[in-house]
Amino acid sequence: MDLDSKASDRPLDPRCLLTPEAGNSEGKTFQDTVGFPVAVVLPAAGCGERMGLSTPKQFCTFLNRPLISYTIETFERISWIRTIVVVVAKESYDQMLQVIHSFHHTKVKVVEGGTTRHRSIFNGLQAFHESTEGPSLIRPKVVIIHDAVRPFVEEDFLLKITLAAKEQGASGAIRPLVSTVIATTSEGYLDHSLERAKYRASEMPQGFLYDIIYQAYQRCSEFDFEFGTECLHLALQYSGTNAKLIEGPPTLWKVTYKRDLAAAESVIKEALSLSACLISGTIAETVALASHLQKNLAANSMTVDVYQSATGNNELLSKTRNFIQISASEESLLEISEMVKVLEEKNHALLYPVVIVWVHLYMSEESSRRQKADELSSFMDLATKAKQGNVLLYGIHVVHSKVPELWEKCAERLSQITESLIRDRNPAFTGQLLQA
Ligand code: C5P
Repeated sequence: MDLDSKASDRPLDPRCLLTPEAGNSEGKTFQDTVGFPVAVVLPAAGCGERMGLSTPKQFCTFLNRPLISYTIETFERISWIRTIVVVVAKESYDQMLQVIHSFHHTKVKVVEGGTTRHRSIFNGLQAFHESTEGPSLIRPKVVIIHDAVRPFVEEDFLLKITLAAKEQGASGAIRPLVSTVIATTSEGYLDHSLERAKYRASEMPQGFLYDIIYQAYQRCSEFDFEFGTECLHLALQYSGTNAKLIEGPPTLWKVTYKRDLAAAESVIKEALSLSACLISGTIAETVALASHLQKNLAANSMTVDVYQSATGNNELLSKTRNFIQISASEESLLEISEMVKVLEEKNHALLYPVVIVWVHLYMSEESSRRQKADELSSFMDLATKAKQGNVLLYGIHVVHSKVPELWEKCAERLSQITESLIRDRNPAFTGQLLQA
């Protein structure tokens, strides 16, 4: 799936697990198909009034990262997209530079926006033209325009939009209407209603031959700049180009209200919880417990790969964002500490929080009582440190039982707790030692 050699050094994007293989049935990659320069303009200069928050929605944060960074990442991972122009309000300019720096975005150029969405987009397009401020960016053949507040657009759909834009001059995503559209009279009565089956909602992304959309913006009126909302309409009216419309997936939805942020967070959390690495150790009891856990988590749609040890296995550490370490050793906290160190060195939790669930198996009640008190404070310290690096560390104590039914129940409880820690990624519970 990962086509960008530079980007492939970065941890896997969890959302790409939800998307089909990048490439077609003849084994051609998307990179082979797009042999021309493509750039993106992301208008992000709105103030997000409908959100009801003082922070513009594109800068609202979930899982320790602003929404705009998720959208940028979506495009940055695609090797055939060269440049991403992000258009922000003057007062957000420095904040945007900070986001780029903090999350290591590499393909982004920041441009100042205007008072309306059309003005902002035009400013973005002008970044590809020579100006008095210095040399311009390489002018693309096709430019994709996408809202900064729609983080979930998949590569195969972007490819369809891009190729249609190359062929037809313009293309845009559409979706069926969810409600009927009506016109009202000035007195607030029904004037007429539209036949829902005949109409579609115009969504983003949209694609254009750069020259066509640039010409349309150069020719359009002040009225269009002030009150227009549809780039496809400008391409038709001012460049005579009729756009190809392509039905898009439901994931194209726009974060508009506060509740949409929670929805976006849950989409990401779900994608992050699809797989885990389980480190089982080598003794019979921990291996058996690992096998139980693997089976129970698989029953709840989590793919779990089991390894005996993580030590020295750097490839393993970059594979997933969920680790479950089962250990019966008194030294097991040292192993966890080592894992946290490696994850930090590799910057593995830069974009998404990484979860480590430490399962400490005691062979008897007595040994559990003896060690627990000592462990608690060192574990809490380690978890506090790990959290600063976006690694969420949770602990679960398990006491081995020789009674098969009790042991079975214990393994079941352990699976449920582990699964919910991974799915919820709740920072408030890090450093806690739970009991299965
Ligand atoms: O307000 P609306 O949801 O239609 O905004 C869509 C996108 O256009 C958002 O990403 C918003 O930041 C952007 N926008 C802009 N400049 C404006 C107004 C909106 O870039 N003046």
